[in-house]
Amino acid sequence: MNLANFIESAIKQIQRGVVDHKSFFRHPFLASSDGQHIFQRIVVMREFNFEKKSIVIFTDSKSQKVTQIVNHPECNLLFWDPRKKLQISIHSIPQIEIDNSRYWMKINDKQKKDYSVTPPPKSAIKAHDDYQFSDQNRFTVVNITFKSMDVLQLSDQGHVRAVHDFENNTQSWVSP
Ligand SMILES: Cc1cc2nc3c(=O)[nH]c(=O)nc-3n(C[C@H](O)[C@H](O)[C@H](O)COP(=O)(O)O)c2cc1C
Repeated sequence: MNLANFIESAIKQIQRGVVDHKSFFRHPFLASSDGQHIFQRIVVMREFNFEKKSIVIFTDSKSQKVTQIVNHPECNLLFWDPRKKLQISIHSIPQIEIDNSRYWMKINDKQKKDYSVTPPPKSAIKAHDDYQFSDQNRFTVVNITFKSMDVLQLSDQGHVRAVHDFENNTQSWVSP
């Protein structure tokens, strides 16, 4: 098995997650930290930049993840495809996009509402439906640039694992 091909094929699976709505890679787990605890949640991968090796996600500026990312600009993306038995874990650097107008123009009204829940996400409410949608625009675009990637392919013929460092452009097989 060729190492470069193994890594490239993993990256292509991520790329495919953006366009293929049935791909399990469309919904990675994003982990971030408040400095004390680690938090994970599922997000939708909206864009993949092959040259920069980065993805784009949309969120609410008042969400916990944004506060965590701003204060601790480091995160992890975890992809798992149970059909392909492929896991990819990626250490990344998140950055809030200053000008998000080109993304805002492309999303529909229902999506726009998702970024205006009042009170903001994770606020205590008196009943399950005690929230509204305000006209406050808190739509936030986060660019997440890959630093290093850990790819694990489970197989009855023997598991295969490799790591790739995007900063130094180095890769190697590792034991699974
Ligand atoms: C399938 C799925 C997709 C989701 N996509 C997003 C997303 O793209 N952006 C987002 O902010 N939250 C998304 N969520 C909700 C998050 O998982 C999370 O509950 C929310 O963003 C609040 O997270 P936080 O309080 O940790 O910031 C998604 C949830 C699910 C189940």
